[in-house]
Amino acid sequence: MSYKDQIDLFKLPEHIAIIMDGNGRWAKGKGKLRIFGHHNGVLSVRDVVEGGVDLGLKYLTLYTFSSENWNRPKLEVMAIMELMVSTIHKEIRNFMEKNVRLNAIGDLDMLPKKCYDELQNAIKTTAGNTGLTMTLALSYSSRREIVSAAKNIAQQVKSGEIDIDDINEELFGHNLYTSDMPDPELLIRTSGEYRISNYLLWQIAYAELYFTPKLWPDFRKEDLFEAIMDYQKRERRFGMTSEQVN
Ligand code: FPP
Repeated sequence: MSYKDQIDLFKLPEHIAIIMDGNGRWAKGKGKLRIFGHHNGVLSVRDVVEGGVDLGLKYLTLYTFSSENWNRPKLEVMAIMELMVSTIHKEIRNFMEKNVRLNAIGDLDMLPKKCYDELQNAIKTTAGNTGLTMTLALSYSSRREIVSAAKNIAQQVKSGEIDIDDINEELFGHNLYTSDMPDPELLIRTSGEYRISNYLLWQIAYAELYFTPKLWPDFRKEDLFEAIMDYQKRERRFGMTSEQVN
């Protein structure tokens, strides 16, 4: 029986976040350039999105390019940006067919104009879709996001819009890039690395973490289903006792 058939659809996480890691190593293992890994990583993205749509998942957030990734060799950065432009352009039709809404978080102004324009066009085109919301974290740094939220709030206090006593977790969350989505219940990282790498630090406070040795270009929807199965076996206690949650 496939993992998909064993998933309890009533206990599906609403939001899954993924750190797609291992493209470079995957390519190196095949004696190819790193960009070959990124190209194959796109096939994994397509398959995982399809898996999410099949299940009726509401939110999928993919760590596509971190703020730190700008420090990679110029050629690799340019190739990833080109890949993003062509992929987003090609995928719009697929998103429309599958009722997927594209979204993006991060310092999007840092993106090359062509990439920024393609992204905004796809976001606008798919804005009315009501199925899966697929968010690309691009030029994203969680610490910067938190600092930016703190600055926004400080500004609101300074202007008298809010009182200092109005600041609480809910208000803070509303000032993050992810204000319009629930926190991820499940975070998946591929490639056998056990790190969070500056990703959704505030939002994953109570997320279940799932690490797999598979490199991202080898990850497919069946692996997503396996991760969800694993998640469904866990007891989420939120600081309470096992007896309380049961
Ligand atoms: C991490 O692997 C992967 C990236 C930094 C890029 C991810 C980008 C894609 C999969 C393309 C997706 C495009 C769209 C439009 C969603 P790595 O290069 O850090 O691998 P390594 O750790 O083995 O070096």
